[in-house]
Amino acid sequence: MAAKWTVITGASEGLGVEFARLAAAEGRDLILVARQEAKMEALAEDLRARHGIAVEVRPTDLSDPGAVEALWRQIAARRHVEILVNNAGLGYSGPFAEGGPEREMASVMVNVAALTLLTKRAVAHMLQQGGGRILNVGSTAGFMPGPNMAVYHATKAYVLSLGEAVAEELRGTSVTVTTLCPGATATNFAKDAGMEGITLFRALPPASARAVAAAGWRAMKAGKRVKVTGPLNWLFSVGPRFAPRALVPRIAAIFLK
Ligand SMILES: NC(=O)c1ccc[n+]([C@@H]2O[C@H](COP(=O)([O-])OP(=O)(O)OC[C@H]3O[C@@H](n4cnc5c(N)ncnc54)[C@H](OP(=O)(O)O)[C@@H]3O)[C@@H](O)[C@H]2O)c1
Repeated sequence: MAAKWTVITGASEGLGVEFARLAAAEGRDLILVARQEAKMEALAEDLRARHGIAVEVRPTDLSDPGAVEALWRQIAARRHVEILVNNAGLGYSGPFAEGGPEREMASVMVNVAALTLLTKRAVAHMLQQGGGRILNVGSTAGFMPGPNMAVYHATKAYVLSLGEAVAEELRGTSVTVTTLCPGATATNFAKDAGMEGITLFRALPPASARAVAAAGWRAMKAGKRVKVTGPLNWLFSVGPRFAPRALVPRIAAIFLK
């Protein structure tokens, strides 16, 4: 029987590091994926020493579909991937009409294209191997359009829709798909996306990355389809269903200014 592995993308920073720590604490062998190799190597060394597990580091630019396909081929050729955490993601804050498209296009490639390809490959692989769990990191952004962060919100709506649809297709099988929807969380994400000054991050203290990852991890292991973290975020997730459609982006715009 091949050893069982957990693959975590975006494992150089923030939530990805916390997912790696949670998996390692359960004695799971890990494959860490992101671009910053030195950070992942340092994490890998620490987790090997603490937990006596195997940890492989795979530096990969997930905005390159060819690299994503090659990554999966190399990972899955001789291994049983039991858990896939599609966590890598990035955002961009600014008016849609302004700024270059590079960052928005990178977010589509990483948040949408890479996540889709890895989910698709993993579902087929896990069904063949007799089971597995997929945790896709979405966002409360997925529940509403986001003026000033239009592309990011759209990518996260996609993640939520894809996850719920595939989870339904997999009903009754040994493979589950969970979509984790955090709100503002204390990681590099906001700074990286140029969002630090916006109301959402200034008005409320962001949740701790450790707590958010732990909630997602528990939901994944329980086979839940969608996990929204925190009571206020839960309101953000259900509110748009009851508000008039035209009002939702107007309210979202207040938080994203
Ligand atoms: N923090 C929040 O407030 C928040 C809220 C809701 C949802 N989320 C979601 O949570 C997930 C994790 O974000 P985070 O908050 O932990 O942010 P973070 O600290 O900025 O980490 C993002 C991770 O994604 C990786 N990544 C970005 N572009 C990549 C690329 N082209 N190729 C490979 N890896 C790439 C980064 O690694 P490298 O730079 O090393 O490549 C990093 O490990 C994302 O999907 C994000 O949308 C975050």
